[in-house]
Amino acid sequence: MADTHSVLMNRVYRRQRFVYDATRKYYLLGRDYALDQLQPPADAHILEVACGTGRNLDQIDARYPGRNLYGLDISSEMLRSARAKLGDRAMLAQGDACDLDPSKLFGCAKFDRILMSYCISMMPLWQSAIREAVSHLSPCGELHIVDFGDQSQMPHWFDKRLRNWLGRFHVTPRDNLAMALCDMVEFNVTHKPLMHSYAQYACVRNREDARAP
Ligand SMILES: C[S@@+](CC[C@H](N)C(=O)[O-])C[C@H]1O[C@@H](n2cnc3c(N)ncnc32)[C@H](O)[C@@H]1O
Repeated sequence: MADTHSVLMNRVYRRQRFVYDATRKYYLLGRDYALDQLQPPADAHILEVACGTGRNLDQIDARYPGRNLYGLDISSEMLRSARAKLGDRAMLAQGDACDLDPSKLFGCAKFDRILMSYCISMMPLWQSAIREAVSHLSPCGELHIVDFGDQSQMPHWFDKRLRNWLGRFHVTPRDNLAMALCDMVEFNVTHKPLMHSYAQYACVRNREDARAP
């Protein structure tokens, strides 16, 4: 499964990666909102799951300098762009978000912030990837998710055209993200639509009462 998905992602991004940053800024909306919410502590370890070209890690480094940055992606093609952009500012590794062993990949087992930006819509097993991510949060850690929304506040024709177009790139908006997160009763979850439901944002934290004293 992971091998097939890696081949698919490399096929999607082999050429797209060269125009990715310039084009995606017009429709992967809400990414900067999620970065604003991160507010990592000074010595934080921050992982972006499915970091793509490294655009978000580059921005995190500019906004919150001095943190320890890590990026994971299943596509070796995307990681080539990320490495060129980030150099030694972040540790990068190839791997599947659904089967994550960060101690082995990065020598770091827990993270204070984990970001999943416009990736759950490209992961067939996105709920497993979320569960995997939260299992690697430090006691005060937070998982931040931003992705396409359910378009419920947008005109019907827009929703239909957007989904048809996204489908060509193997992208499926996760309309039931809020519901799936509600099932995670051991966490504090906030979820909100952004930009009239074009996008959605969620934050998952360990519950106060579950944190170490
Ligand atoms: C639309 S890009 C988003 C990149 C970046 N997070 C951003 O916001 O610009 C989706 C990324 O998810 C990666 N991806 C898809 N499935 C994955 C998986 N199972 N594990 C890790 N990365 C995955 C793709 O290779 C691609 O780089």
